[in-house]
Amino acid sequence: MNYRAFGRLGWNVSEVGFGMWGIAGGEGGWTGSDDERGMQALQLAVNNGCNFFDTAWIYGRGHSERMLGRLLRNNPDNPPIVATKVPPKNREWPSRRGDKLEDIFPPDHIRTYVDKSLENLDRGSLQLLQFHVWEDDWAHDERWMRVVDDLKSEKLIDGIGISVNRWEPENVIRTLETGLIDSVQVIYNIFDQAPMDQLIPLCAQHQIAVIARVPFDEGSLTGTLTKQSIWPEGDWRNSYFVRENLHATVDRVEALKQDLPVGMTLAECALRFILSNPGITTVIPGMRALGNVEQNLECSSKGPLPPPTSCSVLRRTAGIERQRHGRNERRTIMFN
Ligand SMILES: NC(=O)c1ccc[n+]([C@@H]2O[C@H](COP(=O)([O-])OP(=O)(O)OC[C@H]3O[C@@H](n4cnc5c(N)ncnc54)[C@H](OP(=O)(O)O)[C@@H]3O)[C@@H](O)[C@H]2O)c1
Repeated sequence: MNYRAFGRLGWNVSEVGFGMWGIAGGEGGWTGSDDERGMQALQLAVNNGCNFFDTAWIYGRGHSERMLGRLLRNNPDNPPIVATKVPPKNREWPSRRGDKLEDIFPPDHIRTYVDKSLENLDRGSLQLLQFHVWEDDWAHDERWMRVVDDLKSEKLIDGIGISVNRWEPENVIRTLETGLIDSVQVIYNIFDQAPMDQLIPLCAQHQIAVIARVPFDEGSLTGTLTKQSIWPEGDWRNSYFVRENLHATVDRVEALKQDLPVGMTLAECALRFILSNPGITTVIPGMRALGNVEQNLECSSKGPLPPPTSCSVLRRTAGIERQRHGRNERRTIMFN
């Protein structure tokens, strides 16, 4: 496993981390999770060098954090780095233009959820707390700055991050320019490369860590979906892969598959595409199957994809992105 410096906080984090949404199951999330299998997947990741785990209070309403707490207790000599998220008070993903900070992240709400997360994780402090939605209009609002400053001086958190809304990578730029944010979490994958326009270069300039989430586009970039794919009732993927998105996505995946280097799976290509970008600090695939954990962590040792001149899949990615026009209208309510 290769490690990269986590922005100005300087932690040595595994370049392949672990996304802990799916593993927790629960309302508004993924079906098909199983705690014992999930704990095995987490431990296997630790054994194979993964040390960065991304969770959130909303993932199973504390369940994902409690699983991570178990993992921490089971690995006292080699404790993984914890990144969690405070949910918006109105419980709506994403936030909307015009939302007021006092309705989404009032100071007492932030503190309440820091306490809940600490209890779930069974810890005295959090390494990274992230805002789970964001509006850049809040950039200069001193109320979030004050509470973050207090949490840091009380040593309840070491770092503060923002998880930007799906398909809105620029809805954070002014906030990053305040110099007060340590990390950004953003969707960056073969289909969603818009963060390279402004966000990732800006982060490099300011030493802000970049956590690349949803590397497989919620599963399409593993090559396993068809135009008939459907998930059990209650699985949020039914609301993401609605017919219009599913059909267009499967077509793009099929086109991409034609260009894969011999012997490389689409999932490997998707992860190594992200790892090829030095502007990314860590990528956090969701993975519950033990075989997926093994394969994903192995990608680190395989290194970047070959240069575009010799790799047709990289040339292909240039034209295969989701249409950027209308990106902001394609909003997904992830949880109620
Ligand atoms: N707003 C936010 O802040 C936000 C939103 C979404 C996600 N996230 C974070 O980002 C993380 C990653 O995103 P995600 O979990 O939604 O989606 P993802 O990582 O794009 O895709 C996960 C899916 O890929 C499958 N998979 C993983 N490795 C595979 C492999 N090698 N071969 C074939 N299939 C493979 C998983 O299957 P199995 O599970 O069966 O192994 C799962 O179905 C989340 O867990 C969460 O931590 C944050």
